[in-house]
Amino acid sequence: MKKIVITRKINPTMIQKLEKDFRVVLWDEAEKPMPRDRFLEETADAHGVLTMLSDKVDEEMLSNARNLKVVANLAVGYDNIDLESAKQHNVIITNTPDVLTETTAELAFTLMLTAARRVLEANRQLMAGEWSGWSPYHMAGTDIFGKTVGIFGMGSIGAAFARRLSGFRTKVLYHNRSQSELGETLGAEYVSFEDLLSASDFVLCAAPLTDETKHRFDKEAFQRMKDSAFFINIGRGAHVVEADLARAVETGQIRGAALDVFENEPIGKDHPFVNMDNMTLLPHIGSASVDTRNNMMNLCVNNIMEVLNGGNPITPVK
Ligand code: DGY
Repeated sequence: MKKIVITRKINPTMIQKLEKDFRVVLWDEAEKPMPRDRFLEETADAHGVLTMLSDKVDEEMLSNARNLKVVANLAVGYDNIDLESAKQHNVIITNTPDVLTETTAELAFTLMLTAARRVLEANRQLMAGEWSGWSPYHMAGTDIFGKTVGIFGMGSIGAAFARRLSGFRTKVLYHNRSQSELGETLGAEYVSFEDLLSASDFVLCAAPLTDETKHRFDKEAFQRMKDSAFFINIGRGAHVVEADLARAVETGQIRGAALDVFENEPIGKDHPFVNMDNMTLLPHIGSASVDTRNNMMNLCVNNIMEVLNGGNPITPVK
């Protein structure tokens, strides 16, 4: 029987589906990643692996996995995977596009609203018993309607976010490597990265992490933004030079940031962002609705089954 390794606790029905035809080895912990040495040991003779974005699928792992045919990554992003090396070892990589688009766009919207209206700050004040009563500018935030929103990365999540903006009477700008039909259909205006930064009241990063986009949001980028603007990130932490962002928020160069992702996850209390009032921080829950996570798992399982049964992957990373 072919062996499949699953590196985190997933929905039991998905495991049962695989167990009909395969031997499944499961790291049965929901919160903790499979330790690296165990990952290497278990994948050494595996034919398929269902990985999380916290698992590094690199040359060391791939050259050690002599039977490996497919890695199904439970994420749309795949910056945890060395694609070049996978190609050399003839391992098919799949991801989970589309099924998480709407859920992730909803979270991006949640971040924008939460930051603009100071929701977490206001909630913290109330919970700490420090609310002294109504006053005209108490916790006064920023409107979204009538503003300019800039989307860096007009892929399907960026577009789903833009669609949600239509009820807010905003002007929408976007920047991609090239002009996108999707952007035009949504009435969004293509601008340079520099113009996106300087003209937007809210800048959303929804791009994939690549060599080109890594650390794109640095000191210079934040300097270009309005001092009233917010930066929102649902892409990857490494899109940002975190020390530059901390400085930009601390010194009032930008109004605030709302982040779902960090360069080294998980972050703890000692992270410089944690005690800053103008930071809205979430623990990488972009696609975390129960339905969407189930759909993502199902897609991973189907990708593995297709490949190991001699078919074509449903959502290969090309
Ligand atoms: C992804 O799919 O890349 C997300 O970050 C997971 O939540």
